[in-house]
Amino acid sequence: MRPAPDRLERLPQQYFAALFARVSAAAAKPGPPLIDLGRGNPDVPPPPHVAERLAAAAASRESQTHGYAPFSGLRPLKQAVADRYRAIYGVELDPEREIAVVPGTKTALVEVALCTAGHGDTIVLPDPGYPDYFSAVALAGARLAQLPIEPRPDFSSAPEAAALYLNYPSNPAALAAPDGVFADAVSYAERTGTLVLHDFAYGDLVFAGRAPASFLAEPGARQVGAELFSMSKSYGMAGWRLGFVVGNPELVRRLELLNDHVRAGIFAPLQEAAIAALTGPQETVEERRALYEARRDRVVAALPQARSEGTFFAWLRLPDGVTVERLLDEARVALAPGEGFGPAGAGHARISLAVADEALDEGLARLRDGLA
Ligand SMILES: Cc1ncc(COP(=O)(O)O)c(C=O)c1O
Repeated sequence: MRPAPDRLERLPQQYFAALFARVSAAAAKPGPPLIDLGRGNPDVPPPPHVAERLAAAAASRESQTHGYAPFSGLRPLKQAVADRYRAIYGVELDPEREIAVVPGTKTALVEVALCTAGHGDTIVLPDPGYPDYFSAVALAGARLAQLPIEPRPDFSSAPEAAALYLNYPSNPAALAAPDGVFADAVSYAERTGTLVLHDFAYGDLVFAGRAPASFLAEPGARQVGAELFSMSKSYGMAGWRLGFVVGNPELVRRLELLNDHVRAGIFAPLQEAAIAALTGPQETVEERRALYEARRDRVVAALPQARSEGTFFAWLRLPDGVTVERLLDEARVALAPGEGFGPAGAGHARISLAVADEALDEGLARLRDGLA
């Protein structure tokens, strides 16, 4: 074969694949069992009625169950998303024009880049931010700009761009949306013509009695932007690969156009089960949120320098001279190193709360010693 095309050569090292390789190599060395607080994989399964719905739908002998599903998604699924947005976030959506069904928001954040940025256009990312955003910029052949999110994003310093990504509650910094940030983002978008994409993957996982805050509740937001909503975190369905892009109708149209060319629908029973999750009892969403908040409290009690306002992560500033590599080798605790999330992540580490309490407590005890 000829050398790989530029678009692959441009890709950054995949942060999580590299982290997994480093942690696996450390785990294979002699010593006490390694505690992995680096990963972010939901440790609580989906609600039982959702798994049951999947099994029942998949057992059907109807050919339409197993054939190609409608490419743009089942209409009742889009309606279920619209109903949830109205009930929980106070946002009215037109299911046909304002909701695109996607196989996970990781895919969507690449597709939004492909649908907004031409070669050499700029995409602005939050710093620190989720590493797969870098992959989206690279695959679109776009230019990267970064906007520090602390103490809060200053949009007057953000360049005019094809798209700007925001993410609250934020991975890895574990910040809830500061007051007025969405209004500032809308003004910036109106001024510059930039599309704002708000990644709401952790939307329901917000702590200290805060209400989940959708970007689309901001007046003017859907004229200039859209939001990613995922089944992965709110319902523990990360492996199922289902999410939505909601908001700006022109972006939804472009995503569905791309979808018609590169995908062929999503397994219908999976969509049926997602409808059951979105329209059925919602207690498990709150149980999951409360579980992560209780673990956040354990982390902060053990390590007062850590903080988290939401997501299933806590963000930790490392003392001078302490590195994630040293904690991995000496304390045998894996954390996600901050610098891979952007320049503002240097000197920090991300601690996962998606870890059983016992392992978390053992990891925290080792970290307390390792950080001392
Ligand atoms: C900030 C953020 N956005 C998007 C995703 C992708 O989620 P999914 O593709 O499972 O919807 C993740 C996953 O960890 C994430 O942390």
